[in-house]
Amino acid sequence: MKEIMHVTSVRGREILDSRGNPTIEVDLQAGTAFGRASVPSGASTGEREALDLRDGDTSRYLGKGVRRAVDHVNGEIADALRGRELDQRALDTLLVGLDGTSTKSRLGANALLGVSMAAARASAAAAGLPLYRQFALLSGRVPHDGTFTLPVPMMNILNGGAHADSNVDFQEFMVMPVGLPSFSEGLRAGIETFHALRGLLKARGLSTGVGDEGGFAPSLASNREAVELVLEAIHRAGYTPGRDMVIALDVAASEFWDPAVGAYVLAKSGEGRRSSDEMIALYDDWTRQYPIASVEDGLAEGDWPGWSRLTAAIGDRVQLVGDDVFVTNPAILRRGIDERVGNALLVKLNQIGTVSETLDAMAIARRAGYACVMSHRSGETEDSTIADLAVGTGAGQIKTGSASRSDRTAKYNQLLRIEEALGAAASYAGRSALAHLGMV
Ligand code: PGA
Ligand code: ZN
Repeated sequence: MKEIMHVTSVRGREILDSRGNPTIEVDLQAGTAFGRASVPSGASTGEREALDLRDGDTSRYLGKGVRRAVDHVNGEIADALRGRELDQRALDTLLVGLDGTSTKSRLGANALLGVSMAAARASAAAAGLPLYRQFALLSGRVPHDGTFTLPVPMMNILNGGAHADSNVDFQEFMVMPVGLPSFSEGLRAGIETFHALRGLLKARGLSTGVGDEGGFAPSLASNREAVELVLEAIHRAGYTPGRDMVIALDVAASEFWDPAVGAYVLAKSGEGRRSSDEMIALYDDWTRQYPIASVEDGLAEGDWPGWSRLTAAIGDRVQLVGDDVFVTNPAILRRGIDERVGNALLVKLNQIGTVSETLDAMAIARRAGYACVMSHRSGETEDSTIADLAVGTGAGQIKTGSASRSDRTAKYNQLLRIEEALGAAASYAGRSALAHLGMV
């Protein structure tokens, strides 16, 4: 009989994230089982994300302190959880009820998520399971044959938009090593491409400084040049674009959608205004001309009619990932599915605020034939929970930055450990990650 554990203590603290902003870390003890987790935060956040509670006290950390959220963990939340059974669904339901708002704005989604993730880690410890197996159990996806799928990394080797002080409007230019035989070989190919890109930038006298997600952040002649540089880097690294590797973009178009003029304003590059249909035409063109297999947030979160037209235009051959538009919110995703918006869900725990609701959103996506892309935030910590979550849920894809900054490589390194531990029981998603597009 499995021993039932009860929460003994919950303790939160203020730590730092990868941008030097405060964030919350939570320790949760249940008998002899212990779990610790920390919470990320975004820069190009969706408007309907659950609330990241900040102190607003400008005398500390420019108002970004999280002492109030920490106090909620150590006060109200700890009091409510102490003595409760260590059961993820029950604890998450309790947290959501305790907060009582639809946006988790009373206690803070950062407070709730720190506790929820720490509970998952403590549960894994209590069961003597690696975290990814605990997530497989929670999501009802324990593989019958014991084989776990390692995700294709989406490696953001060129950063723009809100993550870089350059003149590139589009936020992320990523490589996906879909044609390599294993996760570790795929990762190596991505890293080698990163190094090749560095050489290319250096040779052209362009900056090799990096952005928030560890990719290079040069100023360029145009957004298109970023794609061409990445393409050339793939070649230079000795790989064949389209076969070994495809390109993925996160345009993060909400950031440059101007509702006042009803247009996308490419202000950083000075490329001018584009209507929704002109943006759609651009993606249609680019995805024919280049081996771009995935476009995230190609249109703004408020531009739902545009999203439907984009999906109708190229959704049968290009992965269209909804980040700001769905904010990992089960209810919003359901609406998106009904309105044929996108064909893939970007999964960010802190957009919704608990592990259980994140798993719910993933289950809804899957039932509708949408792919799931596990994701970090631009502000991260050394916490590598999303690596285990990607494997446990069989997400098939993970985007967690480039080949530099330990906040990014922490997740890739954890995937290497999982792959090693699984041995022959590890399979690599590879091209099947894009099977929903009939691309295999
Ligand atoms: P964010 O960026 O964490 O700044 O929101 C990541 C993304 O847009 O996917
Ligand atoms: Zn995004």
